Amino acid sequence: MLRTEFVRLQLPAFSEPSLEGWAFFENAGGSYTCQHVINSLSRFYRQRKVQPYGSFPASQDGGAEMDEARTRLSSILGVDYDELSFGPSTTTNTYVLAQAFGDFLDSGDKIIVTDQDHEANSGPWRRLVERGIKILEWKLDPETGQLDPQKLDDLLDTKVKLVCFPHCSNVVGAINPVKDIVEKIHHAGAVACVDGVSYAPHGLPDVGKLGADIYLFSTYKTYGPHQGAMVVRRSLAEKLPNQGHHFNGGTLFKRFTPSGPDHA
Ligand SMILES: Cc1ncc(COP(=O)(O)O)c(C=O)c1O
Repeated sequence: MLRTEFVRLQLPAFSEPSLEGWAFFENAGGSYTCQHVINSLSRFYRQRKVQPYGSFPASQDGGAEMDEARTRLSSILGVDYDELSFGPSTTTNTYVLAQAFGDFLDSGDKIIVTDQDHEANSGPWRRLVERGIKILEWKLDPETGQLDPQKLDDLLDTKVKLVCFPHCSNVVGAINPVKDIVEKIHHAGAVACVDGVSYAPHGLPDVGKLGADIYLFSTYKTYGPHQGAMVVRRSLAEKLPNQGHHFNGGTLFKRFTPSGPDHA
């Protein structure tokens, strides 16, 4: 049974006088931040806000805490430690990935996007048309709002290199059968980029089991700080050109976050 009183106690916004009387139904706008996160941020800024991974205690503690975040979240998501990176937002993460795919793909290659997605997993890919990539749209059924996986079959061919679709649509709320769709995509020789932003607030998935090559969500919608969590599986991350500092290219989780992570 969900103990709502216990849950409310974890979120200080519920006892904040200036927010009294307000109900917050705007799922996509983000979630309140829980007390544990606020405590950790506060400790980091008070005690550990120095260059991490140095030789003195504050720096070592800060670096260890950053590593712990990656270790714990990657294990929940069922992927390797270095397959998870943190960028400023999901939109920034897809933007950077689109630059990488733009360099990696050949003119005439195809990318499939949907009309069931948020702009974050659509616009950056569509703009690759300017670099000679063909963009195809997997359209939802206007009667049901659902994406029919059989319609994807009609679009897949050997020129398709990437298919981008949402785990859960922020437009119609449909939850897509990610594992089945990814199997189709892999069978056709392409890779899958799944936007999990609307899904993750309802439970973090086992990305390893889903099989997605890229999985993205935003931690400001999962009771955390404003960050974009991005999984890029090793086989793809090693192939895509490094978008970070040239000397960071050898570290998987630094290849697609040119700005580096927010240490806190
Ligand atoms: C389904 C979905 N994807 C992506 C985004 C963009 O996330 P971010 O704000 O981290 O760029 C949103 C934001 O509301 C969203 O609802």
